[in-house]
Amino acid sequence: MALLKILTYGNKVLREKSKPIEKITPELVELAKDMLETMYDAPGCGLAAPQIGRNIRLVVIDTSIPDEEEPNPYIMFNPEWEPEADSESVVHEEGCLSLPGIWGDVTRSSKIKVRYTDINGNPQELSGCEGLFARCVQHETDHLEGQLFVDKVSAADRAMNASKLKKLAKENS
Ligand code: NI
Repeated sequence: MALLKILTYGNKVLREKSKPIEKITPELVELAKDMLETMYDAPGCGLAAPQIGRNIRLVVIDTSIPDEEEPNPYIMFNPEWEPEADSESVVHEEGCLSLPGIWGDVTRSSKIKVRYTDINGNPQELSGCEGLFARCVQHETDHLEGQLFVDKVSAADRAMNASKLKKLAKENS
C-alpha cells in the first residue's frame, strides 16, 4: 500500500476524458487500494483515477462517517449511473481533493442507479442510491469525463472562488 500524489486544479490530466478499463488486473486492484488509502489519508469520501494521474475509468468511494461508522469502501471500475424514475434535483455544497479550499453549491440527482465492475470482474448494480453516496458517485464519474464541480456551480460561487482558482491554476502551469 502506498499514498499517491493528488493532482490539483490546473493539471491537464484532470481535464482529459478517461478510458474504459477492459481487464481488471492485479496492478489495477493494487492501484485502487492505494487510492482508497490516499482518500482516507486526505481525508475525503471519494477519489477518481485522473486525480492521481491516471486517465482510466476507476473511482473509489466511502461515505461512511469516520470513527462513528464502520468503513464502507467501494471500488468501482467503469462506473455508470442514471437517475431513478422518482429522482429530483437537489442542491448541496461540494468540495474536491483536487480543489483545496474551494467550495460551491452543485445541483445533482437525488436518487440514482449505479452500475460498475467490481475487483473480481463481476458486474454490480446498486439501485435507489441517495444522499451523500449518490452525490459522490456523480461527482467522481464527472472526473472521468474531465469535469470538475466548479464547472457546475452558480455564477456567484464561481466569482467568489475565482481568485483561488486562478492561484491554483498558476501553481500547476
Ligand atoms: Ni473531486
